[in-house]
Amino acid sequence: MKIIVPPIKSQGIKTKLVPAIASILPEYEGRWIEPFLGTGVVAFNVRPENAVLNDINPHIIRFYRAIQEGVINKYTVREYLERAGAKLVSAGDNGYDYFREVRDRFNEYHDPLDFLFLSRAGFNGMMRFNKKGQWNVPFCKKPGRFSKSYITKIVNQVDAVSKVIKPQWIFTCSSFEASIEAAGAGDIVYCDPPYFGRYTDYFNSWTEEDETKLQQLLLTTKARFILSTWYGNSHRMNPMIDQVWKGFNITTKEHFYHTGGKLENRNSMIEALVYNYDAPSGPKKTEVFAYKNDTSRKNDNEQLTIFEHLENVTAAVRG
Ligand SMILES: C[S@@+](CC[C@H](N)C(=O)[O-])C[C@H]1O[C@@H](n2cnc3c(N)ncnc32)[C@H](O)[C@@H]1O
Repeated sequence: MKIIVPPIKSQGIKTKLVPAIASILPEYEGRWIEPFLGTGVVAFNVRPENAVLNDINPHIIRFYRAIQEGVINKYTVREYLERAGAKLVSAGDNGYDYFREVRDRFNEYHDPLDFLFLSRAGFNGMMRFNKKGQWNVPFCKKPGRFSKSYITKIVNQVDAVSKVIKPQWIFTCSSFEASIEAAGAGDIVYCDPPYFGRYTDYFNSWTEEDETKLQQLLLTTKARFILSTWYGNSHRMNPMIDQVWKGFNITTKEHFYHTGGKLENRNSMIEALVYNYDAPSGPKKTEVFAYKNDTSRKNDNEQLTIFEHLENVTAAVRG
């Protein structure tokens, strides 16, 4: 499956989960409703005919509306990034002076092209806003960041996304409740809320009450839903799996990531997909797929009961 990669980045991006989501996606006639859009990678790869795409972060929605309207396109992006890249190279403090200028301008005027610049010039592809809702990721400290090939890569990503976004897709900016309440039979609701008990910022605070409110809406919706959440890592389980989600079907996918160059900094995270219908290729209720993402064990998907899986994870946590 060739994955479309969006031009904006975020630490919560689900690029690696797209094939797992696609594998449990049922046929549907209605709309794709995504209350927590983020970078949009899931919608752009599912490519629904009709969609309602929502996020509480207005910068994300403004950016994708500008692409949909054609205001941002491969030409405007190339021109903007070539100009900004040249200024970065010649700016004082190793480029940081120009980064600060764009950041301050963005925090005042919220231009979507400045948003794209910050997303691609910031440290480690992070998206983070401080308590006042201002951009809060430092410069990656590479004044030559916007090389010809990097600009072309971003331009191609904008172009790819502009070809996928349909004129009838609706982008909204509000809290998640309204878009779920509007879902009907035949629609698919894909939810990827901030992870409970993990990273928070201005647009990503998430409490137990939020998780419970989401559960209530998903319990009563006539639509089918898929929810992404975290299942556990090498230190602990997500308590919400047991408290809130265990009555639904759950599929898990383990993946590894590095927080530093050394082998001992390799961490494992088990992601969960929770859903309320019989998936075409999915496990039955209370069963779990443990996908081994280890390259030496490709295609080695084991099906375990949730209890066996919990035992394995608990054993791993205990070491
Ligand atoms: C984990 S991210 C989604 C990532 C996305 N699936 C992707 O692959 O890029 C969660 C998103 O939910 C948004 N969000 C946080 N609280 C929200 C709320 N109450 N209502 C709607 N969106 C919210 C955040 O702005 C963030 O973009």
